[in-house]
Amino acid sequence: MIVVKKIDEAREAVSRIRQGGAAIGLVPTMGALHAGHLALARRSRADGCATVVSIYVNPTQFGPKEDFGKYPRPLEKDLQLCRDEGVQLVFCPESDEMYPAGHRTWVDVEKLTDGMCGAFRPGHFKGVATIVAKLLLIVRPDAAYFGRKDFQQLKVVERMNADLNLAVRIVGCPTVREPDGLALSSRNAYLGPEDRRRARIIPRTLSEVASRWSAGERRASELLLGLKERLTSQVDLLQYFGAYNVETLQEVAPDEPLLQGPVVALAARVGTTRLIDNVELGADPMPIKQP
Ligand code: PAF
Repeated sequence: MIVVKKIDEAREAVSRIRQGGAAIGLVPTMGALHAGHLALARRSRADGCATVVSIYVNPTQFGPKEDFGKYPRPLEKDLQLCRDEGVQLVFCPESDEMYPAGHRTWVDVEKLTDGMCGAFRPGHFKGVATIVAKLLLIVRPDAAYFGRKDFQQLKVVERMNADLNLAVRIVGCPTVREPDGLALSSRNAYLGPEDRRRARIIPRTLSEVASRWSAGERRASELLLGLKERLTSQVDLLQYFGAYNVETLQEVAPDEPLLQGPVVALAARVGTTRLIDNVELGADPMPIKQP
């Protein structure tokens, strides 16, 4: 496995891998890798791609009061996990490489970033769209892999890729969950045992929504009935909880009959940890185990 920190080295390594005839699959990460990230790398490999993982804690997607400083950075462990997963190249740049002095260009995806997490994390998706655009332009992959837990991020990246004609195949992969249903996230490491127990209300709530949908309920008001109150009583702060159109990310009106399955998504703070999760009620809602 090749590990590089510089953009030129990454470009050169990718072009050497390409000369061997392989398609390139990029898995952009901020490190602190868990089974969800490894599933993305495995999917890239299963698609026949030589896999490139980027590890970079992108400062521009964190707000001033967010956890940029304390975000876990276990680089050696991450590199070993990548080796074990058959990753061919890891690109782990420093910030002076990604945002050199004089950097002035930003990618701002409109509308899709107004609601959901965008309403609570001003500037977050501008940071995400900018860094993902830069990574796609550096690595020039055939495909790039993202988790569906970050549903809004996935939609923003798809839009940006289409609008900037980057022509990368964006692949959204299923959320990987703990046995009790909690979605894997690098931030789960912040949860103490009591908060970890309380966090189970999140998958339990989404699982209840999926059951109502499977039982034929098609009104947003009834799909979510009573659940906001239950969530609010168990988490420390519920930022949002609603049903959103999967294309526009607009919140569905309570009594609008749902012709197309929405995504039901939420963000909540448990202790000091902000968690997000969702269930897509489209074709086949992913089963979430009831703990
Ligand atoms: O999902 C993440 O880990 C980050 O937002 C990403 C896509 C690597 C951009 O920094």
